[in-house]
Amino acid sequence: MKVLVTGGTGYIGSHTCVQMIDAGIEPIIVDNLCNSNQEVLNRIETLTGKMPTFYQGDVRDESLLDAIFAEHKIQSVIHFAGLKAVGESVSKPLEYYDNNVNGTLVLARSMKKAGVKSIVFSSSATVYGDPEIVPITESSPTGATTNPYGRSKYMVEQCLSDFYQAESDWSITLLRYFNPVGAHPSGLMGEDPQGIPNNLMPYVAQVAVGRREHVSVFGDDYPTPDGTGVRDYIHVLDLADGHIAALNSVGEKQGLHIFNLGTGKGSSVLEMIQAFSQACGHELKYQICARRPGDIAECWSSSEKAEKELGWKAIRTLVDMTKDAWSWQSKNPNGYHK
Ligand code: NAD
Ligand code: WQD
Repeated sequence: MKVLVTGGTGYIGSHTCVQMIDAGIEPIIVDNLCNSNQEVLNRIETLTGKMPTFYQGDVRDESLLDAIFAEHKIQSVIHFAGLKAVGESVSKPLEYYDNNVNGTLVLARSMKKAGVKSIVFSSSATVYGDPEIVPITESSPTGATTNPYGRSKYMVEQCLSDFYQAESDWSITLLRYFNPVGAHPSGLMGEDPQGIPNNLMPYVAQVAVGRREHVSVFGDDYPTPDGTGVRDYIHVLDLADGHIAALNSVGEKQGLHIFNLGTGKGSSVLEMIQAFSQACGHELKYQICARRPGDIAECWSSSEKAEKELGWKAIRTLVDMTKDAWSWQSKNPNGYHK
């Protein structure tokens, strides 16, 4: 089976391609490399023995997509490509809506022309906004998003849901990721943020390797057990496996399928710093700072629906997540850049 993977050289896409190849699925990657490095392709080849077919290009380039669908008999699409920095989305909303929303519309139109009727979309727990009740189930309220990035994900969910009403023989899967962290256990692939990391775990990893001095903990006065924010961190390989489970179970079943991909467990910022200290073998400096605007106190998933309907469950532990992130960071202190 051939699957078009947009954004396949990015953090989650690259790990998903490795797991796909191992599962006998052939990824065809399209990525404009705006937030990734072509070196990823060599790492995928080292890990799997197969160099994936790669097109450097933009998902908003409809003629390129048409040509790819004409060239390959593609059964399904996993759509990772998009911009994901919450802070940047506030200062560049047009870029975010154009890339994330318009990019998806162009892709869906090209798929329709080619008769490819199965898409798995990278959505996010951000569509739930500040949840009233945790754990969050798929039927928890969505839409109260707090920034253009979050709204772009919510808008795409709406667009694809409307599209499904018109094209009910399609399989449309919305996967709402919680907080992906960790790396391939080989240390050959991982997250490679450009500039100062926005997210907690890549920041902690850079402190551990000596690239940054200390972690700023954004608030210790939340109504949580230790006062710091609680999130549902999920190993990127578990997340990758969730996509394969989705392709195999609902990828050919017509319907609008919505799943949370999380572990069902929350961990605090201080617990994550502590876990990383154990993985890297030394204490990590941190300072308690003011809350980050727009942050919520706690957010974790109910993963029951995915377990029941996809037969998928996150199996990797916090120790795996921090150990693998440390292996990647210590072997590649500057990411994919030499
Ligand atoms: P990433 O930035 O590492 O990967 C995205 C990839 O898409 C990059 O390789 C980038 O070069 C490519 N890309 C961006 N715009 C493109 C375009 N117009 N045409 C072609 N390629 C393009 O991000 P990631 O963490 O791997 O996230 C993948 C997807 O999952 C994104 O849609 C993101 O919004 C979503 N998501 C991520 C997280 C997270 O915390 N990492 C959480 C929830 C959802
Ligand atoms: C986690 C916790 C911070 C950095 C974001 C997006 C979300 C999704 C995943 C894509 C929070 C605290 C962080 C730091 C800290 N992305 N923190 N110091 O905010 O849960 O989710 O990424 O869809 O849409 O909003 O993740 O890793 O930024 O923060 O104390 O330097 O760590 O306050 O409690 P978040 P995060």
